[in-house]
Amino acid sequence: MTDPHPTSAFHAPNTDPAITDRLVTALDVQAANPGVRRLREWAHARLAARPGERALDVGSGTGSETQVLAAAVGPDGAATGLEPHPGLRAVAGQRAAGAGSAARFVGGDALALPLPDAELDVVWCERVLQHLNDPAGAVAEMARVLRPGGRVALLDTDWATFVLHPVAPELRPALATVTQATAATPDAGRRLTGWLTAAGLSVDHVGADVLLHDPGTVSWPIVRGLATGAVARNLITEDQRDGLYADLTAAAEQGAFHLSVTMYAAIAHRPR
Ligand SMILES: C[S@@+](CC[C@H](N)C(=O)[O-])C[C@H]1O[C@@H](n2cnc3c(N)ncnc32)[C@H](O)[C@@H]1O
Repeated sequence: MTDPHPTSAFHAPNTDPAITDRLVTALDVQAANPGVRRLREWAHARLAARPGERALDVGSGTGSETQVLAAAVGPDGAATGLEPHPGLRAVAGQRAAGAGSAARFVGGDALALPLPDAELDVVWCERVLQHLNDPAGAVAEMARVLRPGGRVALLDTDWATFVLHPVAPELRPALATVTQATAATPDAGRRLTGWLTAAGLSVDHVGADVLLHDPGTVSWPIVRGLATGAVARNLITEDQRDGLYADLTAAAEQGAFHLSVTMYAAIAHRPR
């Protein structure tokens, strides 16, 4: 079957090492962003993993948040990152070992967690649901493996909040179309609380922050990805793409480039 979301690099594991390097770089850039750091800190504080607890990081990427969970649960607990991408899993394992973290990493799929019912105290799932065709099914899986009283943190982007400036008015519909196509479920951010409630969980906290880019630098990986996608779909011409690049470059030189997207977080627990 043809992948309905071929533009999403995170949608399916790709073992090409060049792809792994590109994904790791993208995740590291995001991890350094102040908005991402603030929302992670906010969510960890409310999830409040404690010494001795069993934690799972679903779609753990480079494993940075699995390491945070491992530090919180300590030597009497266990923190595992579940990551289907073999390249990312290897990088996460190397980084954890290098940092002296007890975080461990396993393969698997958010839609079929390799755990019995009511096994875990805490689950973390950050910017993964947007890449799934059945995010509600994945949240139901998280609810299944949580013990009564166990907690979950979901963090995700909502691509309808994506803002790029300056963009000529006639190019905006094309870029909006391509932006929506970068994820299987681009409106994940606004749907977190609904999925949690549908899975029988009780929502305790909701929060948001914005991933805001430097106004003096064009965010070329994102801009090129969108513009290339728009040209490939015949939504804009190559001349229009080049005009967009020129406008964004000129804006960045004036400190007037803008790229932002809102991320949402929800913390919930399984009722006893
Ligand atoms: C944008 S990355 C986020 C990684 C990490 N959670 C973070 O916030 O840095 C999306 C992650 O979801 C993983 N992923 C994709 N499909 C998945 C699935 N079906 N089950 C579990 N993880 C999946 C990808 O391999 C990737 O590591």
